[in-house]
Amino acid sequence: MAAKPFHLGWFMNFTPGEWDHPLAAGGSPWDGRFYVDMALALERACFDYIMIEDTLMVSEAYGDSAEAALKHALQVPKHDPCPLAALIAAATTRLGVVATMSTLAYPPFMLARLCSTLDHIAGGRFGWNIVTSGEDTAAQNFGLDKLPPREQRYEMADEYVDLICRLFDSWDPDAVVMDRATHTYADYRKVRPIHFEGKYFNCRGPLNTVRSPQGRPVFVQAGGSPRGRAFAARHADSIIATANGLDGMRQYRDDVRRHAASFGRNPDDIKVLFLVYPILAETDAEAHAKYQRMISSPAFIDRSLAGISSITDIDFSQFPLEEPLPHLTTNGEQGSLDKFAQWGSGKTLHQLAMERFEAAEPGLEFIGSPDTVAERMGQVMEAVGGDGFLISTPFQRTSRRFITEVTEGLVPALQRRGLTRTAYTGTTLREVLREF
Ligand SMILES: Cc1cc2nc3c(=O)[nH]c(=O)nc-3n(C[C@H](O)[C@H](O)[C@H](O)COP(=O)(O)O)c2cc1C
Repeated sequence: MAAKPFHLGWFMNFTPGEWDHPLAAGGSPWDGRFYVDMALALERACFDYIMIEDTLMVSEAYGDSAEAALKHALQVPKHDPCPLAALIAAATTRLGVVATMSTLAYPPFMLARLCSTLDHIAGGRFGWNIVTSGEDTAAQNFGLDKLPPREQRYEMADEYVDLICRLFDSWDPDAVVMDRATHTYADYRKVRPIHFEGKYFNCRGPLNTVRSPQGRPVFVQAGGSPRGRAFAARHADSIIATANGLDGMRQYRDDVRRHAASFGRNPDDIKVLFLVYPILAETDAEAHAKYQRMISSPAFIDRSLAGISSITDIDFSQFPLEEPLPHLTTNGEQGSLDKFAQWGSGKTLHQLAMERFEAAEPGLEFIGSPDTVAERMGQVMEAVGGDGFLISTPFQRTSRRFITEVTEGLVPALQRRGLTRTAYTGTTLREVLREF
């Protein structure tokens, strides 16, 4: 039986990239060209989309100081994803371009307008990664004392998304007539105010941009909590996810598919992509040596703990390294915390920090030659049921070398097995996602 193909995305951000490795010369990618080159490589490899992550703060979560975040360039400096999305969209023709924008930060009208503008620049290949922000320091950059609790953030986000969908629909598909005989650009009867009055947001409308090529951009989301999963199942075209082990992955996907069906959606219209960190080399032994070199570097534990502190708003410098963690919860990224902490494993914080980028369950370490990792990815997808992977690199230290290992090594190995596409058929990002 022919293999069932799966989807590929890449999870990155507009940060310095790999800069102090012997085979990388990054560190100042601020004109965007490095990431445009990267996007072209992903397009040659027929990725569904490049996803530009974003957060809106300089984290002081680790040790109550910004020292580790800045020293290790962990999530900071981080430049705005939207201008980069426009550059990438202009340089590519088939690759989907997804940018993260927080419902905490943008007034809905501005976000809808920006999405619509970017979807036009991208010719219908733009996606919005919907986040509600997860850090008090981000909330404080927008005049709040702290982040609203998760339930309320999602309640606000539900209303937010309803509002912007109304804005996207405030222009009929045939509103622009460009009738030379009557000198009419747009038909005023086909552009309507929305008069939205909600609990959190009011907006008059209509949007002042032409209806976007996809009607609305692709929605991407990463809900981890039960409430977050329900939100994602209701709105998302693609879900980006972390889960513990094969069982966790299967349960996560089944859960969002069940929710989607209960909202009257076709579960196949939602592609769940699981975050993975492949470590590749010519041979399995070399890849394992490379992995060992990475985790035994002197800064690894500090980076690992500062990184998880930054996305959970929990100070991991307060816990003894050689003891198991107490049970913790967060108003930030609970899913990432659960994956990191491997609750019930009895592992010490030191072990957990070492294993941050390796899945807890044997069979989920994507370390090896391209053929070894491709084979494993195929097996995992078969066990999970679909829909694909979101490739990334530890600490977002992206380098040309790593991009080449994936796009010229791993992807061809996947393609040889019939596991990923060898050509694009669809034009818009939504079509590409729904191709299989
Ligand atoms: C793969 C992945 C990517 C994410 N990207 C972002 C991001 O760019 N910005 C952000 O603020 N949060 C990001 N998050 C956090 C999610 O938006 C969400 O808050 C998190 O998964 C926790 O889910 P919950 O809010 O349902 O608890 C990401 C999470 C995952 C798993």
